[in-house]
Amino acid sequence: MKTAIYPGTFDPVTYGHIDIIERACTLFDRVIVAIAQNPAKKPLFSVDERKEMILAATRNLKNVEVDAFEGLLVEYARLRKAQAIIRGLRAVSDFEYELQMALMNRNLNEDVVTVFLMPHEKYVYLNSSIVKEVASYGGDVSQLVPDFVLRKLREKFAGNANAGVKRL
Ligand code: COA
Repeated sequence: MKTAIYPGTFDPVTYGHIDIIERACTLFDRVIVAIAQNPAKKPLFSVDERKEMILAATRNLKNVEVDAFEGLLVEYARLRKAQAIIRGLRAVSDFEYELQMALMNRNLNEDVVTVFLMPHEKYVYLNSSIVKEVASYGGDVSQLVPDFVLRKLREKFAGNANAGVKRL
C-alpha cells in the first residue's frame, strides 16, 4: 500500500490543489490531504471548515483521506506510514523554497521521499491568498474554486465593506 501525504494550509482549497490531488491519486493507493499549521499564516477558515471544503471537493476520489496535524511533517508521515510527500511546483519562484523544505525533510527522515507534481498551466498563478483577496472585493473566483468553496467565501465576505469600487 503506497501512501502519500499532500500537506498545505488549504485556506481555502482551490482547483490548483485539486489538480495536484487528482494527479497524486493516479500514482498512490492512498493520498492523505493534510492540513498543516504554518505559524507564519493567519487562516481565514477554521481547520474544520477547511476539512469540510476539501472533503466536498474530493468526494469523487475514492483513495483520498482528509486530516489535520500539528508538528513536524516528517513525523506525521511516519505516524501515517506514508512513503511520500507530495508538493506542487507551479513556477520557478516555488523552487527555492520547495528545495529547501524537501532537503530539510530528507535530512530529518530519509525514508520519506518528496514528489513534485506540476499542476495544469491554467493554475500556475493561483494561490489561496489571491482567491481570498479577489473574493473579499466581490470579484468572480468561480473559475478558481469549486461551488462549495465559492459559497463559503461568499458567506465569509457577506456585507464586506471592501466590495464595490469607489473613488477616493
Ligand atoms: N494550486 C494553487 N495554489 C497552490 C498550489 C496549487 N497547486 N500549491 C500551493 N499553492 C498555494 C497555496 O494555496 C498557498 O497560498 P497562500 O500562501 O496564499 O496561502 C501557497 O501556495 C503556499 O502553499 P502551501 O502548499 O499551502 O504551503 P504552506 O507554506 O502553507 O505549507 C507546509 C507549508 C505546511 C507544508 C510546511 O509549513 C510544513 O511542512 N509545516 C509543518 C511543520 C514542518 O514540518 N516544518 C518543517 C518543514 S521543512
